[in-house]
Amino acid sequence: MKKLSALFIVGIILPMMLVSFKPEKPSKPETAQYVVIAWNDLGMHCANLDFTNMCILPPYNNQKVHIIQKGSSTALPVVMPHSSGLYVTYEIPGNTYSVGKTNFWTYSQHLFGVTLAPNVGLAGFGLTGTMLNADTINYHYATGIPITAYPDAALTTSTPYQLTLIKAFNSGGSQVGSTQSVIPISHEINCVSSGCHASEMAILQAHEQVSGFNIANKPILCANCHSDNALGMPGTAGTPPFSQAVHQKHGGFINTGTIADCYKCHPGPNTQCWRDTMHSSGGVVNKCQDCHGSVSNVGNTIENGRNPWLQEPSCGASNCHGPNYAEEPGLLFRQSKGHGGLFCSTCHSSPHAILPSSRPEDNVQNIALQGFSGTLKTCTVCHGYTPAGPGPHGYNPLGIKPVNGNIPAKNQLLQNYPNPSTFMTNIPFHISKAGKVKIEILDLNGKNITTLINNNLQPGEYKEEFYTSKVTSGTYICTMNIDGKTDFIKIIVMK
Ligand code: HEC
Ligand code: HEC
Ligand code: HEC
Ligand code: HEC
Ligand code: HEC
Repeated sequence: MKKLSALFIVGIILPMMLVSFKPEKPSKPETAQYVVIAWNDLGMHCANLDFTNMCILPPYNNQKVHIIQKGSSTALPVVMPHSSGLYVTYEIPGNTYSVGKTNFWTYSQHLFGVTLAPNVGLAGFGLTGTMLNADTINYHYATGIPITAYPDAALTTSTPYQLTLIKAFNSGGSQVGSTQSVIPISHEINCVSSGCHASEMAILQAHEQVSGFNIANKPILCANCHSDNALGMPGTAGTPPFSQAVHQKHGGFINTGTIADCYKCHPGPNTQCWRDTMHSSGGVVNKCQDCHGSVSNVGNTIENGRNPWLQEPSCGASNCHGPNYAEEPGLLFRQSKGHGGLFCSTCHSSPHAILPSSRPEDNVQNIALQGFSGTLKTCTVCHGYTPAGPGPHGYNPLGIKPVNGNIPAKNQLLQNYPNPSTFMTNIPFHISKAGKVKIEILDLNGKNITTLINNNLQPGEYKEEFYTSKVTSGTYICTMNIDGKTDFIKIIVMK
């Protein structure tokens, strides 16, 4: 308990100190300012701790990082590419080794056929190191970090929500930014501790009737026969995928329809892995089944063609948040990008930990960035100022307000200025009576480039900004539709 509160203090006070003791002038010649944002891909990683008998999942945690060069009123923020030479290191302060906390390294050769250096995980990353990135991606990553839930100073206190320390450096080796993000890990795989199975050996013995199952060959990697997308293992022909076998087998009798069903095996009564805003707000979604269906449903949908781990619920489903808040077509939340080419998790954090979270550790990063927990919605964090144009999902924090008190006599779209423009151009328009206004930018083929306004507006004189730096040189059409009547102007972009 004592150790846990020490962690809280480091997590919350440190970022606050960084914010309040910012030097007035940067001491380095470096002029660009960077925002560093990190997250975990899944919101929770599960791993066995004792591998003597069986392995369901090995220690394997993932972190991703965006480095964003801060914008200003004359420049948009830039998600820094590989070619910038910026690089990122990660560490988990207070958790520096895993050998001895788990016996994974004793069995990694037997289970996965690889000899691993101590404290190095299956993807070659250790508990500290430098992340990778590449020309084709705009983020840095470390995969398979073999962390356990036991910090060096708390070897018997399970601590599922530890914080990483992520540092970004320029190619000259000067630190240009840092952040902290949760690296969630739980060993609550509860086959035995839930009181269901007598022992792991009893599980293995009950499985012995299956041909090819040789208990003497333990530890047994279930995914050797049952395909498992979590491990990228194909399994053997005719054996059901692991998720299907487990959920179908247990769904018949673990079926109270409450979150306790899932916490029988998933982490769990102590970890409480689902901790996001939808959980704590107690709204229409208040149990795992509201998104995933029952235990049987998780298994049966696989038999009916669902690809486990790769086809999951989505925010954008029509009975949930709908198309304005959707993942990219065919992609999961963890794979999708939204505003500015940034991963959804940049602003919302991980699945099952969507901010604000009921775990204080999840909120540390956004409190450090914008002063309060919850969705990253403070435009200045990345832009350096509050843009007047629509931001994520069309959200416009300044609102759409008239520029003066005049009430014009007729609806009119006026010529933009400056025109031609290179970075940003202002589009003035007049509304004579209240109504629904839609202003779009189209290319010469009539294809929508962006929708600037789609709102009910009061009468008045307005101005909207269009960021021409986002499009190539050429001529564009701006249309204003109100009461079924359309006005247009030509906008020239020259770079
Ligand atoms: C040697 C291959 C092999 C290994 C290793 C293996 N299984 Fe299986 N498992 C099977 C086969 C084959 C079936 C039978 C499928 C069927 O009945 O259609 C099965 C069935 C199951 C079922 C459903 C049982 C039932 O009665 O419906 C569960 C649950 C299961 N396995 C869990 C596990 C777990 C947990 C592990 C790891 C500890 C594991 N399996 C390892 C081959 C294997
Ligand atoms: C009897 C134990 C058990 C119960 C009960 C259980 N799970 Fe699982 N679940 C597992 C195991 C084991 C895995 C990991 C399988 C793997 O490694 O592929 C898993 C994986 C999953 C996955 C990822 C794979 C997939 O099919 O997409 C989802 C989603 C999931 N469970 C949802 C749930 C939900 C929701 C509940 C409660 C309604 C639940 N589970 C109840 C044991 C269980
Ligand atoms: C608000 C809807 C929602 C609820 C409630 C929910 N999940 Fe999920 N779950 C998702 C989404 C969305 C994904 C896919 C996320 C992604 O991109 O990885 C997912 C994925 C998963 C996965 C696969 C691994 C992963 O993260 O992709 C598991 C396992 C899982 N959920 C288990 C659970 C369990 C157990 C509960 C309850 C304790 C639960 N979920 C509650 C929406 C939900
Ligand atoms: C740059 C930050 C940012 C990114 C990236 C981002 N969002 Fe959002 N998101 C927001 C903000 C800000 C809001 C609140 C908007 C509002 O109140 O209208 C929001 C709201 C939401 C909501 C809640 C809507 C509701 O009904 O209240 C969902 C769901 C959502 N986003 C999903 C996503 C998905 C999916 C992605 C990735 C494809 C994504 N977001 C990317 C900033 C972001
Ligand atoms: C996490 C960082 C981040 C946050 C927070 C953020 N933006 Fe952005 N924004 C970007 C990036 C990156 C771009 C893309 C620049 C580019 O494509 O060249 C961008 C682009 C824009 C653009 C240009 C047009 C477009 O949509 O690409 C507008 C307007 C904009 N943002 C408005 C906002 C508003 C309003 C907010 C606050 C509600 C906001 N942004 C919050 C990072 C952010």
